[in-house]
Order: sequence, then C-alpha cells, then structure tokens
Amino acid sequence: MPTDTPMLPDDTGLKTRVLVFTNGSAGSGKSTTAAAVAYAAAKKKRKVCYIGLDKQRDGSRLLGYDDPDGDEDLPTLYDVVDKLVTLPEAVVPARDTKTKEVIDNLWVVLESKKLEHLEFKLANETARELWLYRMIGQLRGRFDVIALDCSGDVKLGTIGAIIASDEVVGCTKSQEKEARGLTELEDKIAEVAEAYGHTGMPTGIDWVVITEGVEHKSQGKVYKDMEQQLREAYGDIVLETVRDDVKVPEAYTAGQPVTLYSPNAPSAKAYTKIGRQMKLYR
Ligand SMILES: Nc1ncnc2c1ncn2[C@@H]1O[C@H](COP(=O)(O)OP(=O)(O)OP(=O)(O)O)[C@@H](O)[C@H]1O
Ligand SMILES: [Mg+2]
Repeated sequence: MPTDTPMLPDDTGLKTRVLVFTNGSAGSGKSTTAAAVAYAAAKKKRKVCYIGLDKQRDGSRLLGYDDPDGDEDLPTLYDVVDKLVTLPEAVVPARDTKTKEVIDNLWVVLESKKLEHLEFKLANETARELWLYRMIGQLRGRFDVIALDCSGDVKLGTIGAIIASDEVVGCTKSQEKEARGLTELEDKIAEVAEAYGHTGMPTGIDWVVITEGVEHKSQGKVYKDMEQQLREAYGDIVLETVRDDVKVPEAYTAGQPVTLYSPNAPSAKAYTKIGRQMKLYR
C-alpha cells in the first residue's frame, strides 16, 4: 500500500450513523445503492466507511478492490471474524478503479469469498447475533456514516448487521419478489428486536429505496403499480425512486459507484438526492 495512503481516521467524536442496506431478497439494488450513496456522501466531505458482508464481493469491487482474496496483505471482514485483525485494522481506503487513486473521505472493509462460512464460523459463539454489534463501537466517532451492505437473505450476517445498525434502509426493486422481501425483512426485524431490543437496534425499516430497474419496457405499468403500492404502504420514508438507467450496469462493469462513474446520470442524481433526503449531507 502506498505510504501516502490516508490511515484510518481518528476518533474525533463524530456522531456516526450506521446504515444497513438490506432486503430479504437478492438482486434488490443493495450494493448499487450502498456504494452510490457512500460515494455521494464522501464527495460532500462526509467521512464514510463501507462494510460489505457478501461473499459475492460486489461492493468491494465497486470501491476499487477487484479481488480482495487475491492479495494476502489485504485484510477482509472475514479476517476480523476469524480474529486475525481487529475491525479498525481492517479498514482500508476506497480506490477509484479507473485511476487507481485513493478516494478522499471513503474507506472500506473488504469482503471475502470466505464470508460464505460466516454462520459456521460464528456457530459456537454465545449470542452470536451480536457479532458485529460487539465490534462496531470501535469505528464509531471516526466516521459520519458507516454503510453496511448485506447479502440477499436475512440470515446471521444480515441479522448481525441490523442489530449493529442505527437505521435500516430497505432496498427494493419495483417488483413483487423484492417488495415481498421487504415484508420478510420487517418480520425479521420485529422478531430480532424482541430478543435484542436492549441494544438500541432499529425496530423497523427507516427508509425505503425503490429501484425501478425495468428490464422489459412493456411491463412498465406493473412497476409503476408496485411503486404506488410501496408508497401507500410505507409513506414518506420512501425516498426518490431510482429509475431504470443503463449507466448503473455500465458503472458496475467499470467497477465504480454510479455517482462516481456518471455523476450527471439520472440514477446518480437520484442517489445524490436520496443521501440528502436521509440528511447525510445538505
Ligand atoms: N437503476 C437501475 N437501472 C438499471 N439496472 C439497475 C439499477 N439498479 C440496479 N440495477 C441492476 O440490478 C442488479 C442488482 O443490483 P445490485 O447488485 O445492486 O443488487 P443487490 O441487492 O446488491 O444484489 P445481491 O443480493 O446479489 O447482493 C445489478 O445488475 C444492477 O446493475
Ligand atoms: Mg449486493
């Protein structure tokens, strides 16, 4: 790692907001949203740490690390769980995949393929649902925002992230399957809060982000109806809808958050607005 790489920021007593981007269903826009909003906030000079929890490692890729497992010197979240490094020691600066330069104000805890074994790894711990809650305090005060990007299920990784968080961002496509994933998520939060409410964990979904992601234009009306239903069900916690935008898969291929790849694209503007609606910046 170059010597001019900014290190982990000091604890300066920042009032850290831990946001968890999640849904019981896969492919609901979690990584796209978490990375886009994280970059938008860093661009507005907020100190941001992105923590990926998915063995697919999509978020790590978007933040400049194509293959965290390929470099033994790079710590990952799995190494933290494996107690090889502490959570603060696993924080590395995010990078622009295109220029290879460090991105100001944005840090990342990298994902590993080995996160597949997270449940097994935690199996013998007492109150294992608290695995991330027990550590996240070590990062509070150093960042304005910590973004936790979950895998597409509500198993132990996601449950731990929800308990460790302050606010739940339910990410959904405007389609039946992903919208149902939100209901599954709400049920899960309620169930977990019964046992772990004393941690101060969220008791429901705080924000909803709808990604339209229309694959077949002819089905447009179906998506519109679903968006309407979600707005009726969740009211004003539903933020700006992110319309179908070819710049999202393009940014994905380029390995960049869409807010970096194409800041003036409609999706990037929507994500910048979403960060503002969440009051992460003005
Ligand atoms: N606004 C958009 N327009 C077009 N495509 C989009 C948009 N938002 C997301 N997508 C596409 O939808 C797919 C799923 O997005 P993403 O990877 O962010 O979801 P995820 O919830 O993180 O998935 P996983 O559960 O696999 O982690 C990606 O191929 C992405 O490019
Ligand atoms: Mg993802």
